[in-house]
Formats: sequence, structure tokens, C-alpha cells
Amino acid sequence: MAAKSYHLFTSIFWFAVVPVFVIIEGLLIVSIIRHRHRAGRGDPVETDAPTKLRWVVVPALVMMLLDLAPFGEEAKTTFELARAPSGDVLDVEVYGHMWWWEFVYPGYRVPKTPASYRLSTANELHIPTGRPVRLVLRSIEPGLRSLPDFKSGAASDLPTGVIHSFWVPQLAGKQDVVPGHDNKITLIADTPGVYRGQCAEYCNLSHANMRLRVVAQTPDDFDDWITAQKRAVVTPDSGPAAEGYQLFVGKGGCLACHTALGVEANTFARVGPNLTHLKSRETFAGATFDNTADNLKRWVKDPPAMKPMRPEQGTGMPNRGLSKEEVDKIVAFLETLQ
Ligand code: CUA
Repeated sequence: MAAKSYHLFTSIFWFAVVPVFVIIEGLLIVSIIRHRHRAGRGDPVETDAPTKLRWVVVPALVMMLLDLAPFGEEAKTTFELARAPSGDVLDVEVYGHMWWWEFVYPGYRVPKTPASYRLSTANELHIPTGRPVRLVLRSIEPGLRSLPDFKSGAASDLPTGVIHSFWVPQLAGKQDVVPGHDNKITLIADTPGVYRGQCAEYCNLSHANMRLRVVAQTPDDFDDWITAQKRAVVTPDSGPAAEGYQLFVGKGGCLACHTALGVEANTFARVGPNLTHLKSRETFAGATFDNTADNLKRWVKDPPAMKPMRPEQGTGMPNRGLSKEEVDKIVAFLETLQ
């Protein structure tokens, strides 16, 4: 899909450079030099109206004819990019939050979850290579509490947020994520790899920190990833991780906003990213930071100090006022979320 957009750009670019810029600007410069004022030359002769009109109509027609070539291609490519893919398509719902990305796989149920729950992850979209991936892009309201209805509803049923833009340059062009409207875009990755992306529509404070990654895997690796993502959290029995677990479900208040499958107090909240497999991701917080224990500690201690956010307005994670010891224990638990 990106190759088509790129080809369209380059063809229009060279058309604009050679016939439009070089020839027309060239003629203009030649005319300026040849007809410049010189000693002995009188005032320029004024031509009559019909002659002048000819010099408007003829170039206009020439330009229209020249325009048809790229326009034909432009129209064709636009329709090609918009067309829904056929065959073995993977559907993914993309939710633009302030300021992170949520990816929901409507085709994948997860055992021991409500009937409407579907497999979900954050900021790092996994896709299989060689298979069309149809993304439905939706903007979601900051502060949306829970996920009573994970089933695919129309965008108009969801509380709405602001406009974002989904952009992974190596895989496709930009597509806006518009409140109250389902926008669609298709990705096809030819080779495995990590493709970086970025929100490309200004969406307030941490727009610049609303990044994402597309992890393209061979179909076998992708299936393994799906299997791993369906597993529930294994509750630690002892040590700092077990104490961290108690803080996670208790004083930390993490489950008010996050989901952790298999944890008893889980409420399937989707205000923040699904943490069930936090450590299966390379990055966190809108793919902004490396997912290391040190970074997680800094984050849990004081999130708005690392990434500008306004938790008091429902956008972003608040400082929970935890002590260093409590933060260390919570992160010891988070580190078990493989
Ligand atoms: Cu989301 Cu900019």
C-alpha cells in the first residue's frame, strides 16, 4: 500500500518538475531576457484583446491535457487504496487514546473473559506478513472507564475523543482517526520487521509522544504471539513480586484504569493499556520509552514527569503518590507480566 502511494507521489513529482517547472519557468526566463528594455527600444506594443485571449485559452487547454495523465493515475490509486481487501483478511480495531494506541483483534476470543471481550494490546501492533490487515480506526474518549461492550460497535456508539492520525510510513499513507466515524486503512507487510509509526495529527499535549510500532511476523510467529497473549496473569506466590501484586490490586489502584486478565479484581478497564502482557512489549507509554525495569520505576513513581499528561482531566496516568519501596515492588510484579 505504501509502494502505491510512493509511486503516485514520485510520478506527480517528476511531472511537476519537468513540464511544469522547467519548461514554463524556462520560457518565462527566456522571455524576460529577450524582451527586456534596451536603449533604442520604444515602449512595448500593446496587443489586441483577441490575441491576448488566445494566450490564455491555449496554455489552459495544454495544461488540462497534461494534467490528465497524472490525474488518471491519482484517481486510480486513490480508489485502489480505499478498496477493502479480499481473501484471508485480518481485522484489527485501532483506538486512538490520548496519548497511546489500543489494538483490538475482533477475531480472537480469550478464555475466561466476558463474551464481548476480545484480545487486545497497546502501542505495538502485531501482524502476520503476506496477509492483508484491515484496520478500523476509531478515536476514543479520554477517561473511558470500562469495556462493558468489547464487541465491535459502530464508532458512533462510542464516546468520542479528538482527531488523531495513524501513520506508519513504511507500510501505508496517513489516515485520520476521527471521532464518531470509522475510517479504514489496509496494511500488508512483505517482510518481518518492526515498522515505526507516529500519530500525525496534533492531538494536544503529548501528541509528539503518541508513537506506535507495527511488528510484522511470519504467520507461525504471529500465531505463537496470539497464543501467548491469550494467557492470563500468573499470580506470584512470594517475594517482592507478590507484595507488588497486592499493591497492584490494592493501594496502587491500577485496575481502575488497566486490565490484567486472570486477576480477580480485574474490571476490563481500558482507560490505560492492557497490562496482561506488558513485558511482551519493547516499549510503553505510547511506544515512547524502552520497557526496562528502571524506566517502569520512574514511570510508576511519577508518570506526568516523564511524559506531559493531564490526569486531572482524564488524559494520562496520575502520580499515585507511592513510596520508592512500593514502586519497586509494583515493578517487580510488572516484570512478571510476560
Ligand atoms: Cu494522537 Cu496526535
